Amino acid sequence: MDRTPVIQARGLKRHYRRGSETVKALDGVDLDIYPGEMVSILGPSGSGKTTLVNLLSCLDVPTSGTLTLAGKPVGNLSEDRLAEARRGVLGFIFQKFHLIPTLTVAENVELPLMFLNQPVDRIATQAVLKQVGLEDRSGHLPKELSGGQMQRVAIARALIANPKILIADEPTGNLDKANGEAIFKLFRRLCAEKGLTIIITTHNLAFGYEADRVITLEDGRVIKEECGKGEGRS
Ligand SMILES: Nc1ncnc2c1ncn2[C@@H]1O[C@H](COP(=O)(O)OP(=O)(O)O)[C@@H](O)[C@H]1O
Ligand SMILES: [Mg+2]
Repeated sequence: MDRTPVIQARGLKRHYRRGSETVKALDGVDLDIYPGEMVSILGPSGSGKTTLVNLLSCLDVPTSGTLTLAGKPVGNLSEDRLAEARRGVLGFIFQKFHLIPTLTVAENVELPLMFLNQPVDRIATQAVLKQVGLEDRSGHLPKELSGGQMQRVAIARALIANPKILIADEPTGNLDKANGEAIFKLFRRLCAEKGLTIIITTHNLAFGYEADRVITLEDGRVIKEECGKGEGRS
């Protein structure tokens, strides 16, 4: 495994003001994520998982601390430069899928290409849909799919621009156990076959330990780092 981290965080803090009170959502996190790793971020509700992955995704800016993404420091970048740093590097998956109901599966998957000013190529779309097991659903609307299938469309959408890193915040939070397990298996396979680096938050312990590495947060701090069941597979 390449030992140069693809994401490196040092002393990462994100504090919020709530009236006269300061909420220390993230309170000094050091993290090294290596290429091709699948890492789970575990922790109870309110422990700072979403805050952390929003910072790692450059969707939010830390109160203090440093963050390096694919070798580039992203700490003090403007909005435009942040968008540039994310482009082609990061793909995101959310708990609630966020599919556009009036667009077909294929059109939903192709949407990021519009924002990136990249040409749409239906053959490439079909290839990505095949990777998530939905090659026969490209003309369907989201409402014709199950929750597990909708999340697969969201994963295909995250893959379409060929990112190096996938970041998923509670991707199984709206799914039942069987569908949740299948989504983790899919991440596992994408990690192995495409060499993707994958970071997933979950409060489901059984799912979390499918990763190579498990990082547990509590009150905005890392309280535990362990090997998962996937360790050594990548
Ligand atoms: N925009 C915000 N303003 C104030 N407090 C926030 C904000 N976002 C999150 N928090 C607080 O930060 C802490 C961590 O939240 P979060 O990162 O969402 O945790 P998790 O994803 O693990 O449930 C919680 O106490 C939450 O209430
Ligand atoms: Mg959360």
